[in-house]
Amino acid sequence: MENKIKIADLEFNLLIDAEHIKNRVEAIAESLNTEFAGKNPLFVGVLNGCFMFMADLVRNITTPCEISFTKVASYHGGLQTTWQLRNDLGLAVDIEGRDVILLEDISDTGNTLKFLIDDLKQRNPASLTVCALLLKPAAQQYHIPEVKYVGFEIEDKFVVGYGLDYKELGRNLNGIYQLVL
Ligand code: XMP
Ligand code: MG
Repeated sequence: MENKIKIADLEFNLLIDAEHIKNRVEAIAESLNTEFAGKNPLFVGVLNGCFMFMADLVRNITTPCEISFTKVASYHGGLQTTWQLRNDLGLAVDIEGRDVILLEDISDTGNTLKFLIDDLKQRNPASLTVCALLLKPAAQQYHIPEVKYVGFEIEDKFVVGYGLDYKELGRNLNGIYQLVL
């Protein structure tokens, strides 16, 4: 795996390699298997960033589960959140009475998760559990108690790879890379 990469005009250093991601995702799946044994949870992924996390996580889930997606965007291609959330794809399934597990690639300010959680809660799920692969503690603007599983806590620096993009590039990388400032 390359330690340094260039994406568009910026340089990134390897932060978390594929092996570490795999081990952590498997550990989260194990915890979910215990917590949701005998239930049929509904995984809801936040596109686009969650696609790899979702694929790798659910292949380790042993209880029968459903998988669906929603799409919201806040970055619109740059390095900074715009705070202006755009709902690009509404959730197509009825979640009333369901055990919902929301999967997000990264929680930065927490704005996106707060927006999604408020919306999902209005639809009366039986339970709502959030898994974020990455979390930037220094950037968080809200306390979000629904966030129960976090893959890695990282510095407040922009990252790409494993689903995350810079200018829509880098999503295919199997490691997570941090912006060199
Ligand atoms: P908030 O601030 O709402 O941000 O918690 C969450 C959303 O913003 C995107 N995001 C990032 N995307 N590298 C990225 O490629 C980052 O470092 C980063 N930080 C936030 C992401 O889409 C997430 O859903
Ligand atoms: Mg993005």
